[in-house]
Amino acid sequence: MVNLRCPVCAGALEKRAGAYLCPKNHSFDIAKSGYVNLLLNSSQGHHGDDKLMVRARRDFLDKGYYDRFIAAVADAAAEFTPQEATVLDAGCGEGIYSLAVLRAIEKAGKHGELLGVDISKTALQYASKRSPDFTLCVASCAHLPVEDGSVDEVLNIFSPFVPEEFARVLKPGGYLLRAYPLREHLWELKALIYDTPRDNPPTPLTTEGFTLVETREVRDIIHLSCNEDILSLFRMTPYYYKTGAKDQQKAERAQELDVQLAFGLAVYQKD
Ligand SMILES: C[S@@+](CC[C@H](N)C(=O)[O-])C[C@H]1O[C@@H](n2cnc3c(N)ncnc32)[C@H](O)[C@@H]1O
Ligand SMILES: [Zn+2]
Repeated sequence: MVNLRCPVCAGALEKRAGAYLCPKNHSFDIAKSGYVNLLLNSSQGHHGDDKLMVRARRDFLDKGYYDRFIAAVADAAAEFTPQEATVLDAGCGEGIYSLAVLRAIEKAGKHGELLGVDISKTALQYASKRSPDFTLCVASCAHLPVEDGSVDEVLNIFSPFVPEEFARVLKPGGYLLRAYPLREHLWELKALIYDTPRDNPPTPLTTEGFTLVETREVRDIIHLSCNEDILSLFRMTPYYYKTGAKDQQKAERAQELDVQLAFGLAVYQKD
């Protein structure tokens, strides 16, 4: 079972009709679209991905371009969970990985419960449309609304990496799956936009509190045959938000692009 905790007093949250309630009567309504907002001071700070980014990611991923990697994440997730598994997708976005992981766990003859956490309400509105089978919470990866040592597996798929917090919520011996871009990931997209594109820097993989069990790499070349897909890919990356109008126009004009995908997946076990 997913053990949610109150963001105010850290008491255990219980699901009642339409809300979660803690023993001190702090109450959090479940939104119509199915998520619960457990983010305190949500009017401050950053709100995560906005509608443009979430829709671009949903539209792009639904076309199957990242399917090989999504399948690799789902397979690894199912492999490293126990028979009865609680999985936390930290920074789950619009939920395509969450659903693939849940289905892979079921396919492996196991039972999974999945909690998707994201700081973006919009992302969770989209995630809730993917399936009614997961619990969704607006919260930060840095302050997960989950009891200590209550989760079997954490997924960290291109979202903020907060190893201390992931270690806190994991059971002893629990697993952390972390995605990261390899050197040449999206090279041609960067070459289209930037005059002097740079390789992705290597991701340092050693992490205190965890043992690196193994790494896997998935490579693919995808053919984008219309401007809509090129723009969706561009808009779901941080590059779109870091470039000026002149560089953005290069993507707006492009009609075709072959792009290298190069993903790393690190599997860690909590010490
Ligand atoms: C690149 S997207 C990845 C989404 C999803 N894991 C995927 O790969 O499709 C990063 C996600 O992290 C979320 N995010 C950013 N900062 C966050 C934080 N501090 N806590 C939780 N989520 C965060 C964003 O809203 C966004 O949905
Ligand atoms: Zn409380």
